[in-house]
Amino acid sequence: MSQLSKTNLFKPIKVGLIELKNRVALAPMTRFRADSVNFTANDTMKKHFGDRAKNNGGLLISDAISVSWSGIGYPNGIMVQTKEQAEALKPTVDAVHEAGSFFSAQLFHVGRNAVPATMKARGLRLIGPSADTFADADAEKAAKESDMKLEEMTLDDIEQLKKDFVTSAKNAIEISGADFVEIHGASNYTLAQFADISANKRTDEYGGSIENRSRLMLEVVDALVEAVGAEKVGIKFSPYMTFGGGSGVDGEIHCIAQYAYLYSELERRAKEGKRLAYVSNYEARLAGFTKDGDFGLSTEYSFEWASQIWKGVLVRAGGYLHIPEYKSLIADVNADDRTIIAFGRYFTSNPDLPSRLRNGYPLTPYDRSKFYSPGEEGYNTFPTYSESK
Ligand SMILES: Cc1cc2nc3c(=O)[nH]c(=O)nc-3n(C[C@H](O)[C@H](O)[C@H](O)COP(=O)(O)O)c2cc1C
Repeated sequence: MSQLSKTNLFKPIKVGLIELKNRVALAPMTRFRADSVNFTANDTMKKHFGDRAKNNGGLLISDAISVSWSGIGYPNGIMVQTKEQAEALKPTVDAVHEAGSFFSAQLFHVGRNAVPATMKARGLRLIGPSADTFADADAEKAAKESDMKLEEMTLDDIEQLKKDFVTSAKNAIEISGADFVEIHGASNYTLAQFADISANKRTDEYGGSIENRSRLMLEVVDALVEAVGAEKVGIKFSPYMTFGGGSGVDGEIHCIAQYAYLYSELERRAKEGKRLAYVSNYEARLAGFTKDGDFGLSTEYSFEWASQIWKGVLVRAGGYLHIPEYKSLIADVNADDRTIIAFGRYFTSNPDLPSRLRNGYPLTPYDRSKFYSPGEEGYNTFPTYSESK
């Protein structure tokens, strides 16, 4: 047994209507292993999730799933927009359930951060909250090279986006069998772009004030609560994230002002009987990328304000296994009785991560070069601790 075995990490927790056996979650990670033509989940993914569900009983969150072709962004991904696509995810979800664990389907739309060449090749538009507000000079250059313009989403585009979230959420729950859907409000994809004053220059009811910039995020929340029930809906935020052009603390409007409003609107809905299953958070310390392409860690900012507003289940992720003696992990998971810790990078290379943490077994280092490389290698090739002995 390890120092972690006695922490809250290995106590059960109720999330929505489900009791998880531990507070160790697999963080959502886009891994590009699905079928790249139809964007359908496959046996490669089934094995990956099935392996991580064994001897676990906790929550596994999926890769980000595009709610529509207009939001795919990348050459490879997953969708559940059609019945066939949703059915293709079912074996993965079933494998998780058969092993006694639980599945959340993360839903997103990438907006202005789509790869322009991908959109061009598929005959799709490049859209975002406002025209010509690229994340950075590289993004602008990539659009120019593909002869793509960044177009402002029309009110029809916005209505369609909400419908696409609803269809995908219903399909994920009703056809794929997911326990939860997670709205990807993080990482400066479309919903976070609307919340960021540097990306959102709109003058209609979706821009121009904290309330207006939050409108789309909250409309998606309300639509999914209506469609599948609050107890099956989670959401992920990353107020501090600068990846993808986010303003973080340097915005004309500070990220705490913008996001405190969003967390308090969720808490208000909770008090009215519509408490979301969980709110997931990128820790403030995940400061963007280092030169070698990994996340850099900073301890400059405190994120405690978020948990003082939102009183429901919190999922927290960000470098918890990179901090010596797991100090932040132990402090955060033991600070209250409503915190789940999500692990990303080390879950890629340790399919039995919960058991390793509980027993104090060494962790296999992750291989960044295989994070996004299609195929089995670096995805289904890492052994469990007992297999490696
Ligand atoms: C390869 C990779 C892909 C990721 N894709 C997503 C994603 O699709 N959605 C998301 O919300 N976060 C994504 N993340 C962030 C993780 O969910 C997690 O928040 C982050 O890796 C911090 O956890 P860690 O320090 O344990 O790795 C990704 C991270 C990695 C390493």
